[in-house]
Amino acid sequence: MKHLAIFASGGGSNARKIIEYFKASPEVRVALVVSNKKYAPVLDMAAEHRIPTLVIDRALFYETEGLLDILAQHRIDFIALAGFLWLIPPYLVGAYQGRMVNIHPALLPKYGGKGMYGHHVHEAVKAAGETETGLTIHYVNPEYDEGAVIFQARCPVGPDDTPETIAAKVLALEHRHYSEVLAGLLTGSQ
Ligand code: GAR
Repeated sequence: MKHLAIFASGGGSNARKIIEYFKASPEVRVALVVSNKKYAPVLDMAAEHRIPTLVIDRALFYETEGLLDILAQHRIDFIALAGFLWLIPPYLVGAYQGRMVNIHPALLPKYGGKGMYGHHVHEAVKAAGETETGLTIHYVNPEYDEGAVIFQARCPVGPDDTPETIAAKVLALEHRHYSEVLAGLLTGSQ
């Protein structure tokens, strides 16, 4: 059984999809949900699914390596970032090299980097007059959104699209693909 941790800062709709996808899996268990926000809705959702949760603060995350012990206690093999907005420190990247991925709501390398998250991404896509956007799943390295790309999916952007409709299209794509890509990486099944 592979143990997966999900790191999320906000609403956690991707986290929910991943938890539901692996709920009955004999191969993958979502064993921990980590958030940097004490009141993030994702924590309540995880608790409803009886998944252990952990709230981290900057001191633990950036000034110690104590998180590694906690991840080891939960026997975490793999980490999926799902709307987690803090930069991952080098000790954690190193410990989970090739075993930590992020989902980004654009076709990287476009519209990535510090400050490019959530609605900022979709506003930039609209402002640039793009005719397509999508999602990128990539390995995590010490820079924002710069690790090797694993998977991309695309959707069209029309003249009538707004940042909100673009966001909805991309989120639907994320929900469709993230769990399957994770399953492939964790079990080689996809
Ligand atoms: C998702 O669209 C994800 O791609 C994005 O945050 C959203 C989280 O939604 N991540 C980033 O922008 C990271 N740079 P969710 O909390 O409903 O899963």
